[in-house]
Amino acid sequence: MKYRMKSKSAGIFLFFLTATAFAGDTNLPSIIPLPQKIERREGIFKIRPEKRILGLHVRSGTKILTDAASLETGRYLAGQLRKSTGYQLPVGLKAEARDTKGSIILTTDNSKTTLGAEGYELTVASDSVIIRASDEAGVFYGVQSLLQLLPPEVFAMKPIQGIAWNLPCVRIEDQPRFQWRGLMLDVSRHFSNKDEIKHLLDLMALHKLNTFHWHLVDDQGWRIEIKKYPRLTEIGAWRKNVGFKLDPKDTIAYGPDGRYGGFYTQADVREIVAYAQARHITIVPEIEMPGHSTAALAAYPQFSCTGGPYNTDIGAGVHNGVYCAGKNESFTFVQDVLTEVFALFPGKYIHIGGDEVPMDNWKACALCQTRMQQEGLQNEHELQGYFIRRIEKFINANGRNLIGWSEIREGSLTQNTAVMDWIGGAVAAASAGHDVVMSPMSNCYFDHYQSQDHSTEPHAIGGYLPLDKVYSFEPIPMNLPAKYRIHILGAQANLWTEYIPSIGRVEYMAFPRLSAMAEVVWSSKSSRNWDDFMLRMQTQTRRFDQLGVNYRRNTPVKVAY
Ligand code: ACM
Ligand code: ZN
Repeated sequence: MKYRMKSKSAGIFLFFLTATAFAGDTNLPSIIPLPQKIERREGIFKIRPEKRILGLHVRSGTKILTDAASLETGRYLAGQLRKSTGYQLPVGLKAEARDTKGSIILTTDNSKTTLGAEGYELTVASDSVIIRASDEAGVFYGVQSLLQLLPPEVFAMKPIQGIAWNLPCVRIEDQPRFQWRGLMLDVSRHFSNKDEIKHLLDLMALHKLNTFHWHLVDDQGWRIEIKKYPRLTEIGAWRKNVGFKLDPKDTIAYGPDGRYGGFYTQADVREIVAYAQARHITIVPEIEMPGHSTAALAAYPQFSCTGGPYNTDIGAGVHNGVYCAGKNESFTFVQDVLTEVFALFPGKYIHIGGDEVPMDNWKACALCQTRMQQEGLQNEHELQGYFIRRIEKFINANGRNLIGWSEIREGSLTQNTAVMDWIGGAVAAASAGHDVVMSPMSNCYFDHYQSQDHSTEPHAIGGYLPLDKVYSFEPIPMNLPAKYRIHILGAQANLWTEYIPSIGRVEYMAFPRLSAMAEVVWSSKSSRNWDDFMLRMQTQTRRFDQLGVNYRRNTPVKVAY
């Protein structure tokens, strides 16, 4: 421990009380993602329970006092602390408190508006903790940092005895570098249930990530109940086997009839959206079109060019189904689906996929060819552009914005459509005034291997994305003129799950790489420091241990790239 003490005995005292809150030999707490400004001050704040003897009040404990706007976040903090400390800290309104001394105060009063809606100030003094932010999101992120000032055991699921629940005195001023700090999970190839998704949302909140891109639909499974089209989940949510040459025992996602898969009811979706909202996470649903639609076409083959049949089973034939772009009924179908999706997801963006559209069916389809003639489209790529534009108009008419993968740029998009770059196009899109989310395969594909020695890793789709390559990622493309940088909303990690059949494996692929991504999108570019990050990761992995996260434990190797 390097920080200076007034006296030797105070130093030793402090060391024993606070050693667990620090990573190795640093004098700063191990907060991930690294705050913009953090200053260590002398002293500690102790979290104490109320003391009672024979049921009689002897001494007040730490109180959580909030303004009206921050009350929910205050309750969230009390709930988190109750789990691990066992203390029942009272939560109340600051305005009604007789005495604020010794309290943890959460407030939006007198906040610095320059820190934005997600920024916060956190001041820990020996007699108070104050989190000040202009918005609830900022208060919530202040609470996340507060939790990370405590020993890692604060993340335990049940009360742990013998821990000194002390915070080091600090002053933090923090705000994110990017507004889109995302994680995508593909629940089509393998289904994660409601509780598994909630746990992942908790882990996102720990990292101050704010966008969960939920890939709900693909060729091998349709995962969201649509009332108007019940066969989507009766047929499209299931397949005979786990597939992908995986061991059937590597997963628990079996239905009562033994079929493999699953889906979220609309009530499940509402519950998960609310759970995410309470953690200041926006869920961006993805309904793939016009390609990657085999699961929908297995249920409703009439919306394909050929009329089917289609099958979700791997190896059953078509691997990348496409809606017929010549039939108006196909558009009616996807618009009906989107109408139910709008009602479930309150966020600004609706993701419609748009990647890897196969053109063969369209080439051979009389209706698609007629559409091309009528619309003056030169080729099938222009037909794809027509498809996207038509859906874009519908999404915009419903007050939402469209986002799609790189390939949606084949059409002439309206200004408010955003592009998610996985195979390029960010510079052109941003220069044309579109907002862009960066998720290039080079740095953001968490389905890729974490080691070059595949014999020690679970089978993966391929590629190689070690931790330091994620950490080195710069979301602003080098050749993007400065005036367009504002259009880079941020970045996200993508977890495609062909070879990831369980939530344990999802966690293995996500962590620790998601910690690196969190720092890329939150912390300042100039503060990036691999050695310091790895030191803080020592504490982060101890938090993961408490949270039961199946992170990859092998020491990552620093590689040249
Ligand atoms: C993608 O990876 N096909 C977007
Ligand atoms: Zn067609």
